[in-house]
Amino acid sequence: MKHIRNFCIIAHIDHGKSTLADRLLDFTGSVTEREKQDQLLDNMDLERERGITIKSHAIQMEYTYEGQEYILNLIDTPGHVDFSYEVSRSIAACEGALLVVDAAQSIQAQTISNLYLALDNDLEIIPVLNKVDLPSANPEEVTDDIVDLLGCDAEEVIPASAKTGIGIEDILQAIIERVPAPEGDPGANLQALVFDSVYNPFRGVETYFRVLNGKISKGDKIKFMATGNDYFADEIGTLKLEQHPKKEVKTGDVGYLITGIKDAREVKVGDTITLSNSPSPEAIAGFEEVKPMVFAGIYPVDTEDFEELRSSMEKLQLNDASLVFQPESSAALGFGFRCGFLGMLHMEIIQERLEREFNMTVITTVPNVSYHAFTRKSPDEIVIVNNPSDLPDPSTLDRVEEPYIKASIITKSDFVGNVMSLCIDKRGQITNQSYLTTERVELNFDMPLAEIVFDFYDRLKTVSKGYASFDYSPIGLRSSKLVRVDILLNAQPVDALSALVHADNAHTIGKRMCEKLKELIPRQQFDIPIQAAIGSKIISRETIKALRKDVTAKCYGGDISRKRKLLEKQKKGKKRMRQVGNVEIPQQAFMAVLKLN
Ligand code: GTP
Repeated sequence: MKHIRNFCIIAHIDHGKSTLADRLLDFTGSVTEREKQDQLLDNMDLERERGITIKSHAIQMEYTYEGQEYILNLIDTPGHVDFSYEVSRSIAACEGALLVVDAAQSIQAQTISNLYLALDNDLEIIPVLNKVDLPSANPEEVTDDIVDLLGCDAEEVIPASAKTGIGIEDILQAIIERVPAPEGDPGANLQALVFDSVYNPFRGVETYFRVLNGKISKGDKIKFMATGNDYFADEIGTLKLEQHPKKEVKTGDVGYLITGIKDAREVKVGDTITLSNSPSPEAIAGFEEVKPMVFAGIYPVDTEDFEELRSSMEKLQLNDASLVFQPESSAALGFGFRCGFLGMLHMEIIQERLEREFNMTVITTVPNVSYHAFTRKSPDEIVIVNNPSDLPDPSTLDRVEEPYIKASIITKSDFVGNVMSLCIDKRGQITNQSYLTTERVELNFDMPLAEIVFDFYDRLKTVSKGYASFDYSPIGLRSSKLVRVDILLNAQPVDALSALVHADNAHTIGKRMCEKLKELIPRQQFDIPIQAAIGSKIISRETIKALRKDVTAKCYGGDISRKRKLLEKQKKGKKRMRQVGNVEIPQQAFMAVLKLN
């Protein structure tokens, strides 16, 4: 135990976390030539393409320092706010963290939010000034920023380049010297923290854990305390680039467990593993059920593919426990599913996986957050609204509450005005403004989560010319004046286009939606009126003018088969269109409300 170090790397996105991890593996000889790939830890294709570590993993390195061999367990953390609960559990499995800061970019919003998570868990922080090789690096200034943030000495900051290898040895030494060895009682009943799980189609769910007390042996009958389920530890071991089966994994160490579980939902991140026959009296603190934050409808483009979509979603859920879904039907779109996601990135990933891995073509409706509605009749009873069409009749409503977040934005002082007006426009209330340096400012706002879902990132980037970083955490629900804006096409309400918006903005949003839909819906053989309404009151109207040229006109009406062929041809040209009533609606139109500016 004395010679184990458990650590993670925390950083703002693109500051070099994955590159540094690769470099450490390389330096400690944990990788063979054959295994060398660009981004070793990101092994899902999708992750590599996006350059984001979506799922956290762990890897063990051996390193000899002053004649003594050490075991260094690097626990990787996801780099996106959608997965912040997983980050917090990975951090809870460590005693130390490398805080990587880009020497050109300095401290950004995620640097700070991750640092707070690490400090909450009493981790030893080792600041690393990365990318010192860059000509644009500002090592002195950025070191000062780090010293200010951490209250440490400048000497503690390790200058490094994950690219060229500068400082890597210093980092390894600092891990050994500064990160405390794990504590814990080897003689106590088993308590192991689940910090991640990965679905393997052949072996079932692989659970990654950190032993806090006691030990786990191959063949043990174990219990997951939160789910209450018992299994046998068919295989346990430690994690190198490949898994190394072991007879036991002891206090302080990190390992994997295979029990033959086939459904990802049975293994919950944050759960405690103990022994069924001599269970630990208590679970490790900090377990939470992950809750979806963003909901949207997913419908097959072809209504006949509903059953296939269901089985694809079920298979997806086997390896992604944070995806939730239930069947719903829409007057406009027919049968589909209301799905819950951790955030917008998670939603995009699911949509992409459905298309790539399951070959499904789907229509995704406007995402929304989860609202709590209360009726006057029973003002204490929560009606959960995950779909705008589930909102109770406005005349019976007592109040509606929506989720709020605390946003942290770091920007240059030149852009403070722009960022503030954007946030106020997004119904934000400023709670704090502090100058990190004369140039850089941190702003905090309380804002509705729904406003972040609706094209916040893009606008923040625009108003700050790219010089703003952003992070957020949920702070609960607040009462808001919300109304439902419905859209009618050709006088028919299209439920999948309804949105809940703040009453003060409803008219503007209704108007902009009509304008946007007019742009996005292709002209057809007849005029299509587009209307926005609140209840029975029409608040805006546009018309898509009829298309003059009729491709079937030149067929004289006689030759039916020729006419059909032409229509068939047209159909193929329009993938991802949905026929609603007699209007063809393209996928982008369902997302129109997200991009109104
Ligand atoms: P996410 O996985 O997306 O959170 O990003 P990350 O923090 O892991 O960053 P990543 O390692 O992917 O590095 C981001 C970019 O910076 C890549 O293009 C790297 O090649 C580059 N990079 C990382 N470290 C260095 C460095 O020390 N010097 C230079 N010049 N570039 C670096």
